[in-house]
Amino acid sequence: MIGGASAAASLLPRQLRAGAQGDDQASHEADHAASQADGEARHGEHGVAMAVGEVDTEAMGYDPSVFLTDFDYGEASQIDDGRTLREYTIVAVDQEIEIAPGVFFPAWTYNGTVPGPTIRCNEGDRIQIHFSNAGSHPHTLHFHGIHSAFMDGVAGIGRGMIHPGESFTYEFDAEPYGCHLYHCHAIPLKRHIHKGLYGAFIVNPDPERHGELARKRHPDYAESEEWQEFIMVMNAFDTTFDDENEVYAVNTVAFHYMKHPIVIERDRPVRVYLVNVTEFDPINSFHLHANFFDYYDHGTTLEPTHRTIDTVMQCQAQRGIIEISFAGFEPGQYMFHAHQSEFAELGWMSIFEVVE
Ligand code: CU
Ligand code: CU
Repeated sequence: MIGGASAAASLLPRQLRAGAQGDDQASHEADHAASQADGEARHGEHGVAMAVGEVDTEAMGYDPSVFLTDFDYGEASQIDDGRTLREYTIVAVDQEIEIAPGVFFPAWTYNGTVPGPTIRCNEGDRIQIHFSNAGSHPHTLHFHGIHSAFMDGVAGIGRGMIHPGESFTYEFDAEPYGCHLYHCHAIPLKRHIHKGLYGAFIVNPDPERHGELARKRHPDYAESEEWQEFIMVMNAFDTTFDDENEVYAVNTVAFHYMKHPIVIERDRPVRVYLVNVTEFDPINSFHLHANFFDYYDHGTTLEPTHRTIDTVMQCQAQRGIIEISFAGFEPGQYMFHAHQSEFAELGWMSIFEVVE
């Protein structure tokens, strides 16, 4: 099997190959992948190329399959004016993460994971983020949203940098509704973002203000129940620190949703909150096979901004909501990936497993 494994490894991108070679206890699954890749080399067939082996999600304390549907509504209480206050705790910590089998990255994180927690709330809620910096560098929390300049989490403005050992509570009202993000805004910005200091921030639209269409996106209304919702953060990692990425993914781990397809109940609609935080490449994209979808740019409208498309691109920090229907479709594996082929082959490749 040694020959087979190294032949397979030679087909892999250089960074991912390191993981394949470092895996002494080649599993049955890895052998299978290796012989598949071997066949590909002999017959020139277009098999599915991906990293051999598995990332140890347990050791990392982060599983992309769990992250996908993990929306953090914080600690809720009621304030004097009758509104809901939601409190969240975020701690910046340096943490090594595994981004492909055997490929480790020295990340800076919010709460130990990349991305940080997906912060979700309802439009108009009062938000408090209790932030502490337990990392080795000064950081901030910069939210995309409408708030006071003092709370903007930018170096040199308002409260500014939060130095190691310091804490600060960011406070604002959740608006506008949509699919947003937060990230560190310390300098140099590209390094602080790329190292892993980012996460999604979702604000559900209030049906009392915006009418019936808002109900399907608000958890307090029955119209939202049939939806299968996922958070997908498109990211990438520069493992050689040359300002270019070697590994790409949604939700950090290369090829994770190829090896662990996302199960979709065919007759229930799908909503993807899609966020692009890829550093160094100006644009990323989402492309779905064998189906089309509607798209809401920034998630700040209740009518789609694009209808019936199968590819959407986002620049860095752009985000939006994708709505897909597989109703009546043939069960099976529906691939989705970046349509920049390079990104797809370096990890940003995934599958929806549609079941009846
Ligand atoms: Cu930072
Ligand atoms: Cu930003």
